[in-house]
Amino acid sequence: MTNSGKRSIPPTVIVIFGASGDLTSRKLVPALFNLSVDRLLPKRFFLIGYGRKTVSDDDFRSSLKESLSAHSRRPIDETVWEKIAPGVSFHSGSYDNPESFEQLKDKISEIEKEEGEPIQCIFYLSTPPSGFLPILENLGNSGLARLHHNTCCASKVIVEKPFGRDLASAQELNRMINRRFAESQVFRIDHYLGKETVQSLLVQRFANSIFEPVWNRNYVSCVQITVSEDLGVGSRAGYYDRSGALRDMIQNHVMQLLALTTMEPPSSLDPEAIRDEKVKALQAIKPLSLNNPDSEVVRGVYTEGLVAGEKAIGYHDESDVPSSSSTETYAALCLQLDNWRWKGVPFYIRSGKRLARKVSEIVVQFTRPPAILFGQDSRQPLSPNLLTIRIQPNEGVSLSLNSKTPGLETKLQPVNLSFGYDTTFGSNTPEAYERLILDAMTGDGTLFIRGDEAEHSWGLLSPVLDTWQGMGNHGLEKYSAGTWGPLAADKLLLHRGHEWITNK
Ligand code: BG6
Repeated sequence: MTNSGKRSIPPTVIVIFGASGDLTSRKLVPALFNLSVDRLLPKRFFLIGYGRKTVSDDDFRSSLKESLSAHSRRPIDETVWEKIAPGVSFHSGSYDNPESFEQLKDKISEIEKEEGEPIQCIFYLSTPPSGFLPILENLGNSGLARLHHNTCCASKVIVEKPFGRDLASAQELNRMINRRFAESQVFRIDHYLGKETVQSLLVQRFANSIFEPVWNRNYVSCVQITVSEDLGVGSRAGYYDRSGALRDMIQNHVMQLLALTTMEPPSSLDPEAIRDEKVKALQAIKPLSLNNPDSEVVRGVYTEGLVAGEKAIGYHDESDVPSSSSTETYAALCLQLDNWRWKGVPFYIRSGKRLARKVSEIVVQFTRPPAILFGQDSRQPLSPNLLTIRIQPNEGVSLSLNSKTPGLETKLQPVNLSFGYDTTFGSNTPEAYERLILDAMTGDGTLFIRGDEAEHSWGLLSPVLDTWQGMGNHGLEKYSAGTWGPLAADKLLLHRGHEWITNK
């Protein structure tokens, strides 16, 4: 969708705050390495890990190399590593000590002096949210946030989620960021936007003429978006129990998929044109009914069960989860968009942990054809056409059509026309973080969440979270690990004449 690969990138230093964290070793460093293999990193590239521990440059380099062996999608190529390694260093400092930031600034000035030209600084906030405020404050006070302002080398900031925990905190975070950085310098990460299949959603919609005429309330009977995981909370319960499925997955990833599915065609591929249309789609979502919360929203928590034949414990038995926790590990919502294109079409969205399998997909269910021909029993209507956009795994697109089964009788059966990324393009596609880091380096914000997008999404969901908080455990439905979630989520659709497609 974006053209970063073709743009030239100025000499760049990326400073990662929270450099000893999991994200750095599992995602960021492998992404940088793979960009280098593809010759997409700028020729002059520096990586500074910023953390509270005291770590020597050599030890930091060795730990990054270990992470690469464990997590890179391509094996370590020594020649490539030797090119990156000399530019890697560690800066020990605390997030709230202005002196540490002055030292960081000196370090960057040194690099610039050696390079003999201005350098673009990218500050990557990969710390827990408590680190955001002091870091932003010190980036502002030290002048690092305004380095080479108004030039192509202007500093940038990348912010990892969670982007707030409700509307008020997201607004506050936006204010904090925008006090130091202009919006064009801010890159809020949602790694789903970096997934190849999510990027190609707009191409499928707007580079093919067959979809647009039917992509509306006249032909679509419902849309289902499922982002399910078979894993439980594992070692992340400390974070997850303060978050839950709505905050962790729906507010960001699922709402982004919804916005891309429902938005109007943008006037161009300009990042602002695309993000303006996404915002309009989010604005069109009707507020959820909170007088009778069960009618449009279902939340659940997993109990023990079998996942892929293996016994799995219930959420309340996971370590670090308090037995009184009312955190939801599953959420399903029925959303309606009050606009010309989508009025009356239900959008069923759901996400959860310890479900039957890991799958992220968007299913567009079209209206059923009239069962007048083919001797169909009117109590057994024809199957609706389904367009399934599979984000992961088995990335691809399929369209189900009714077909005649071979034989002398006229019997109908749904069949699939399908396309798989792997079979068509091969399997070694770039990881989401490769695309996103590259785009941030070129200053292309298309695949990042703009501040107002985050606020609209929170605006819809914050009242739900407040209502749930007031309800405690009341209405928190149980589901066995390894199933498709609570029965109440099936009823959400049944009441409206639909059923979850993926469950079949
Ligand atoms: C993260 C959530 O944003 O996305 C995790 O915090 C979740 O809880 C993960 O497991 C899922 O990402 P993916 O790319 O594996 O679908």
